[in-house]
Amino acid sequence: MINLASYHTFGFQSSAQSLVEIESLKSVPELDDGPQYVLGDGSNTVFLEDFEGTILKVSIKGVSVSETDTHYVVSVGAGENWHRLVVWLLEQGIYGAENLALIPGTVGASPIQNIGAYGRELADFCHSVEAVHLDTREVHLYQAQDCHFSYRDSIFKHAGMHRWMITRVQLRFPKQWQGVTDYGELKSLGSNPSAREIFDTVVKIRKQKLPDPQVVGNAGSFFKNPYLSVSEYAVLKTRWPTIPAFVVNDTQVKVPAAWFIDTLGFKGKTVGGIICHQQQPLVLANFHAGEPQDLLQLAREIKQRVSEEFGVNLENEVRLIGARGAVEL
Ligand code: FAD
Ligand code: EPU
Repeated sequence: MINLASYHTFGFQSSAQSLVEIESLKSVPELDDGPQYVLGDGSNTVFLEDFEGTILKVSIKGVSVSETDTHYVVSVGAGENWHRLVVWLLEQGIYGAENLALIPGTVGASPIQNIGAYGRELADFCHSVEAVHLDTREVHLYQAQDCHFSYRDSIFKHAGMHRWMITRVQLRFPKQWQGVTDYGELKSLGSNPSAREIFDTVVKIRKQKLPDPQVVGNAGSFFKNPYLSVSEYAVLKTRWPTIPAFVVNDTQVKVPAAWFIDTLGFKGKTVGGIICHQQQPLVLANFHAGEPQDLLQLAREIKQRVSEEFGVNLENEVRLIGARGAVEL
């Protein structure tokens, strides 16, 4: 039995029957018929109970860079740490990932939910994704357009795709860099900040708002921000004139889930050892030896109250893992 407490950032005491560290494409073992779960750093995964199977912990390392006249192409092993990669790219003078500083987790998990923050997402510079199929051993290079990236989504989250283990990710950055500063607090940086200034600002904001999972267990945003039709939004706005929204396209807007949760007064609410975070209510945190049942109770209560009051369905962003695999909230 393997204790999983240090393998997921929520820190619940759970175990797995076995854990295999994958250090290269060739080291993917023969697998039995039991449940398996592909794991990076567990920063978007909550193990709710003992897992009756094998954890495949991806630890493939290595970074290499090639270049064309116009672009840098960076090939990264799936087990590399995302934030360390962002720092290293900045040091090399390869710019474009600075808005995604301080996102926990591995490079291999970054395409799964198309990680995003502060106006950029992985899809902006993902070139291709190498993956191996755990049953057939087929190795396939998914070009970015095949990954069907969208907000917190990619082809890898869809039916049948969880048997693909990502082994490398290729990123492509234009040498002619243009900073992106149109998200919230970054606007104050003015028209021409350096990549280092954007990086430093993002790190500062994130440290103020988000609990460090090394100190307080959490998995970042527990829920996704819901998309509403323009007409649904208009109805809500007549009753709550201050409700914020980000335009997605002509027919949809994205409303911060944090606003719904905040408006309902959940900030600081606790169930057992789990708290709805004071600075960022979209984050549920394990502040004092919380139990999985406490987390589920608080998350279900938030989901139910948001549905009752606003008619909006919140979907969880985190992966909840039960005894044999993913479970619903
Ligand atoms: P894990 O939790 O280990 O896995 C997540 C999912 O990916 C699982 O379904 C797993 O099976 C799958 N997976 C992992 N590795 C592979 C692989 N090699 N091949 C195939 N499938 C794989 N996310 C954002 O997008 N933006 C943010 O700003 C952000 N901020 C966060 C802040 C905090 C404090 C925390 C704790 C989390 C935050 N997150 C954010 C969520 C998290 O950092 C990302 O989802 C990250 O990509 C997860 O990486 P991981 O290696 O820890 O993934
Ligand atoms: N808000 C409130 N009350 C609060 C906090 C926020 O009403 O206490 C409202 C405000 O209107 C604010 C808005 O929510 O403008 C957005 O807040 P914030 O900028 O903190 O971002 P978010 O929408 O809550 C998303 C991502 C984060 C990402 C940030 C920055 C999702 C689910 N979450 O959060 O990603 O870091 O934007 O881009 O999309 C994660 O995925 O784990 C994650 C942390």
